Amino acid sequence: MTSALFTPLQLGGITLPNRIVVSPMCQYCAADGSMHDWHFVHLGHLAYSGAGLLMVEATHVTREGRITHGCSGLYSDKNEAALSRVIHHVRSVSKNPVGLQLGHAGRKGSSQVPWEGRQHLGAQESPWQTVAPSPIPFGEGWHVPRELSTREISDLVEAFAGSAARAKRIGFDVLELHSAHGYLLHQFLSPLSNRRRDAYGEDRMKFPLEVVRAVRQVWPKDRALGARISGSDWIEGGLGPDDAVAYAQALERAGFDYVCVSSGSLAAHAQVKVAPGYQVVFAEKVKKSVTMKVRAVGMIADPAQAEAILAEGKADMVAMARAFLDNPRWAWHAAQRYGIKLDYPPQYARSRYDQWPGAKLVRP
Ligand SMILES: Cc1cc2nc3c(=O)[nH]c(=O)nc-3n(C[C@H](O)[C@H](O)[C@H](O)COP(=O)(O)O)c2cc1C
Repeated sequence: MTSALFTPLQLGGITLPNRIVVSPMCQYCAADGSMHDWHFVHLGHLAYSGAGLLMVEATHVTREGRITHGCSGLYSDKNEAALSRVIHHVRSVSKNPVGLQLGHAGRKGSSQVPWEGRQHLGAQESPWQTVAPSPIPFGEGWHVPRELSTREISDLVEAFAGSAARAKRIGFDVLELHSAHGYLLHQFLSPLSNRRRDAYGEDRMKFPLEVVRAVRQVWPKDRALGARISGSDWIEGGLGPDDAVAYAQALERAGFDYVCVSSGSLAAHAQVKVAPGYQVVFAEKVKKSVTMKVRAVGMIADPAQAEAILAEGKADMVAMARAFLDNPRWAWHAAQRYGIKLDYPPQYARSRYDQWPGAKLVRP
């Protein structure tokens, strides 16, 4: 049986053994940006999930660029050492490629972790001054960000390049710029959050593309470089699919290898129409306009659904977040469905369900 999901994919200078991607997922439990034992276990077990690419959570380029106090960062030697330890472990249990997502939260920083409310930090919770293209808060009652000066903007370009250099040293195969979900790069792109009157407002792609070029210079061509972009702000007057196409084309011209097309989260009042595979339509539109690779994400959970997205040419890869938290063996089970033999860690080889005698009787 053939399967699009389990067909290898050339991504920049690397080859993914299949087209299943573990989507980046913040764990909100780093200490001043440094990962520790939770990440060791979390990423360690996802590393041998069989997915063709494991993306590590949004990791921030400055301390104040973190979303929450628990977010991961790559702005200090300590952060780099901690992340190196985790990735060294990941490499010891799997040969599959591993990527890192780099970001800056901008006006969405200084927030509570999800299980404490996901709101802006209160006065007793060590809030910090957030920054953004314009002093417009994310939602009612949220911190009013300070408008970035041009000097601070160029410092941030350097911060992205500095973190990319650290990621290169750690040995990631893939680097991804977080340009979606209402974080800083997205805030510059959207007319709803960027009301600047200077060159960074006249050309809203100016700052993101400065970051893109700086990171492209640092990141080796024999690895892969991409970005997560937004297909829609889901708000009247905000970015839409045509803007995603224009941005993806600019990324392609700058030498990026792929985009992952997500959407939403620019502002608190966005009305997102969530449904199975609801963002695939944006990925499909972008894919028709570029030659770079395109990843689809969002409410993809069933192997047949994922297989169809690829087989119908709507995207080149599919990323899944919650499906992998729910079932870290998602790829093993999908492989069995398509008659594909994945390499299991030898310690777990006997779990291969299709080889249990009488297994159908006991599996839930
Ligand atoms: C726990 C959790 C953490 C997340 N953290 C990130 C992140 O660090 N970066 C990012 O781009 N998206 C993040 N997301 C969004 C996912 O990567 C994904 O785009 C979204 O959950 C939709 O995919 P799904 O329906 O497969 O979960 C996170 C999602 C979850 C559930």
